[in-house]
Amino acid sequence: MEKTLCIIKPDAVANGFVEKINEKITSDGFEIIKSKKILISREIAENFYAEHSKRPFFRELVDFITSGEAVIQILEGKNVIKGYRSLMGATNPKEADEGTLRALFAESLSKNAVHGSDSAESAERELDIMSDIF
Ligand code: RTP
Ligand code: MG
Repeated sequence: MEKTLCIIKPDAVANGFVEKINEKITSDGFEIIKSKKILISREIAENFYAEHSKRPFFRELVDFITSGEAVIQILEGKNVIKGYRSLMGATNPKEADEGTLRALFAESLSKNAVHGSDSAESAERELDIMSDIF
């Protein structure tokens, strides 16, 4: 069965939205097979977001994702990579469709509540990066 990496980001953890987000994930038919709350290290964050290392927002992105505890989860289900990305909504919550996780729970473009792998290749890479924590 297909798997993807989900991160409930520090803003959503601090705002107490973990259970509400997970209710939405499971009611869409996806299973949460692993879940762990951790403080992501700078080293892991920089590696995880390496594709953005030359972008002007990279430092802000790494500062934010390491700013407080995050919940790292492995989701499993049919077409979960695409399906969970749809449930997340657009990167900028102002553009996210009604009912999506980012429309419901995100504060801003940087504090946007959740992460999800964007392709099968990303899922494999990200699950590997986080494999040590479980
Ligand atoms: P994520 O990787 O966190 O799931 O988000 P995503 O695929 O929807 O968006 P991505 O393009 O991978 O960007 C990663 C995170 O960087 C922040 N961002 N800031 N200031 C900006 O223009 C800008 N663009 C992206 C967002 O917080 C995004 O989630
Ligand atoms: Mg991304």
